[in-house]
Amino acid sequence: MRQEKLYDNSIKCKIDTHKNEKTFPRYRFFKKLVPIVVITFAIMLGICGYMEVRVKTPFSKDKLVDISRLNKNHYYWGSYRPGVYFGMKTKEPFSPVTGLMWYFQSTLQTGGKGLRHWCTQDDKLEKYGWTKHDGKNFGIQEIVDNKVLLKTSFIKYNHGHNGGDWTAKINVSHIEPNLRNKKISLLYYIAIENKTDGNIKPLIDYLSNSLVGIEGQTKELGYFDLSFNVVSENVVDQSYLVTTTPDLSYITKSVLINFQVAIDKEKRKKKIVLPSETLKTNNKQISTPNLIVLQVTGELPLELEVIFEHHNLENQNKKLTGENYNKNLNKYEKLFDVKFEEIFNLNSKGYTQDEINFAKLAFSNMIGSIGYFYGSSQVQSILNGAPISYWKAPLYSAVPSRSFFPRGFLWDEGFHGLLLSNWNLDIEMDIISHWFDLMNINGWIPREMILGEEALAKVPQEFVTQDESNANPPTFFITLQYILDHKRDELLSNHMDLLKKLYPRLNQWFQWFNLTQIGEIPGTYRWRGRKYETNIELNPKTLTSGLDDYPRASHPSIDERHIDLRCWIALASKTMAIISEILHKPSHEYKSTFKYLSNNNLLNKLHWSPKTNTYADYGLHTDKVKLQKLSQTSKQIKSTEKVRVVLEEPKNQFVDSSFGYISLFPFLLRLIDPSSYQLKKILEDLQKPELLWTKYGLRSLAKISPMYMKFNTEHDPPYWRGPIWINLNYMTVAALHHYAKVDGLYKAEAEKIYFKLRDNIIKNVIHQYKKTGYIWENYEDNLGEGKGSHPFTGWTSLTVLLMAELY
Ligand SMILES: *[C@@H]1O[C@H](CO)[C@@H](O)[C@H](O)[C@H]1NC(C)=O
Ligand SMILES: *[C@@H]1O[C@H](CO)[C@@H](O)[C@H](O)[C@H]1NC(C)=O
Ligand SMILES: *[C@@H]1O[C@H](CO)[C@@H](O)[C@H](O)[C@H]1NC(C)=O
Repeated sequence: MRQEKLYDNSIKCKIDTHKNEKTFPRYRFFKKLVPIVVITFAIMLGICGYMEVRVKTPFSKDKLVDISRLNKNHYYWGSYRPGVYFGMKTKEPFSPVTGLMWYFQSTLQTGGKGLRHWCTQDDKLEKYGWTKHDGKNFGIQEIVDNKVLLKTSFIKYNHGHNGGDWTAKINVSHIEPNLRNKKISLLYYIAIENKTDGNIKPLIDYLSNSLVGIEGQTKELGYFDLSFNVVSENVVDQSYLVTTTPDLSYITKSVLINFQVAIDKEKRKKKIVLPSETLKTNNKQISTPNLIVLQVTGELPLELEVIFEHHNLENQNKKLTGENYNKNLNKYEKLFDVKFEEIFNLNSKGYTQDEINFAKLAFSNMIGSIGYFYGSSQVQSILNGAPISYWKAPLYSAVPSRSFFPRGFLWDEGFHGLLLSNWNLDIEMDIISHWFDLMNINGWIPREMILGEEALAKVPQEFVTQDESNANPPTFFITLQYILDHKRDELLSNHMDLLKKLYPRLNQWFQWFNLTQIGEIPGTYRWRGRKYETNIELNPKTLTSGLDDYPRASHPSIDERHIDLRCWIALASKTMAIISEILHKPSHEYKSTFKYLSNNNLLNKLHWSPKTNTYADYGLHTDKVKLQKLSQTSKQIKSTEKVRVVLEEPKNQFVDSSFGYISLFPFLLRLIDPSSYQLKKILEDLQKPELLWTKYGLRSLAKISPMYMKFNTEHDPPYWRGPIWINLNYMTVAALHHYAKVDGLYKAEAEKIYFKLRDNIIKNVIHQYKKTGYIWENYEDNLGEGKGSHPFTGWTSLTVLLMAELY
């Protein structure tokens, strides 16, 4: 899902698929069918016009979130731009956006290196992230850049008028005293998208030629002011920019191209500033700018307040600035601390203040990385020749990583929901509503959401298209199951109407999985989207499973059975049965599907490998594959490229050599009998260091597996072939907790492992955070070091729930 090296574009149309499946014995049978297929296809072409648009036909006109009647409530404004270091916007398809940039006068390079705006790992900041954020009223972030601490915070003030006001504060100081005083330049901007019905204009003091504020007006917000308050004696320079920018993804460039070099008169030093004039295009003054930037340069400490207010409010004396701001921030911090302890109980569990601060930061980054996006995805179904646009829609969703994945991911969001629903069920139900509004008439939800210019700018074109044949683990069922287990009363008393409206969509989602991902024989399921014909991948990826390169059958075929998918469907049917009952809908079908899929005899017949005594996938497989440089005699392929060589005819069998996360799924989703031999064996296997056990958590693939830490192509490093991932570790700890509680023969054993594993994970994630300043995408299994993208405060933040023992 994540490394995005290769785009999985396998199944373009049905005919292709059959061609690709020619390695199967079944293909010979298909050949006889060719004339029939051709005729059928001709008939299908006729109805294609209709079928083609189905992919982009919404499930229903009746949306869960009605954006024409937006609720300008407490959640209207927020730090909903997770992809920038700091910025505020509304939950509105087209909204004014504001944001922060900064640079040091001494280190800004031509070309713009050194100008901070969008979160990127290339900036190599020592750390950044929300230390406290409640998703609703306020947030406090700490950014450390070259030993300089930028504290960015905001408080919202909801007076019930057009979404309320807010103040943001940027306080810059040295983290170590006695450092040579650096000059920092802060830039704060407001921009409005072209499609916003409104405008902004600068308020200039013409005597000093300085920007004192900005006035604006939009249909949704009415008239508003953005004013600035520089609280410092150390300001050496102030300048501004009033211009137009083609779109939001272009803001950095628009600022860069307008930088000017000025000479500091007293010290005869060069400085980089903004032009401080309203720019002209074609010799005409811009009358409708869409980007206005204030620049303040000063020595540390330096502080800037940015105040957003609606016109004509009576309570001017209660302005959220200065001491009043600090007082309010203090109040919100205290409320946050109290609520945090109430929910997670870390203090009473004996954690140190350091550990609790870590947990607050991990949680705050999860909730503080919620974004609001608007746009349309590129989608593709087997009936479309070329990708087409999905309908335009909003998405309110957390993101896995602000620097690397600042957009919505379907299966990640289910894990995020576990944390969020503990804190604020209103937010979580709103997020669920937005995702389920993205479901089409067939019941499909695209697995990656790249909406709007800002989001799109971060993704290479080739990865943009979402394929309608492809699933992704339906983790929202874990979230819903969690809510039903822990928050049922609140759900039923506050969100009953929503649940009723959600139900047909959940139903359709389930049906889509149960229909399109079905296997060849009853009771089996198969992830679609693997490449049938590839001679460069060591083991064709299964991006749809969420576990990208986790090794499956070496030769994708329609006879495959995927154990993890089967378990996901079992969980889904169980949750659907419960929800159906609550809503007095027919639940019989779901109950019987759950009963069928959780029948241990059938499960074991289909997936328990008698050879290794482990759960496994089944399919056309051989272990005897390797990547090899072709001899120079081969003309078709560049001689430098490695290709896969198959040294043995694959045959249908259990994929015994891939013991790892997927082998645990019947246990993870709590389907196996608590007194079964299978449970006993899994508990034994869990603890073996030559398999998954490490001091830092469970690695994804057994150390003894031939695919352990193997590159998938020459350029595609291992991802789910060894590293420790926290979402699956969380599921394992939760399952151990479950089997330690329910009656059965192995309670004590489960409990013993529970404590050890939980402890290992928590210790390492915290240790690595202290060492590096970051929470990571995954952890390497030899020393436990953080790897991959960072900060990764999506599912790695589940560490907080491990600390709190909430499963
Ligand atoms: C700015 O932050 C520094 C360091 O955290 C703090 O000492 C100082 O009081 C803050 N300034 C204001 C005006 O809040
Ligand atoms: C938005 O407006 C600016 C300035 O008027 C213009 O240059 C730009 O092309 C517009 N962009 C779009 C996407 O319409
Ligand atoms: C899921 O699919 C199977 C096989 O087609 C079917 O027997 C079962 O009834 C379906 N379950 C539900 C809840 O629709």
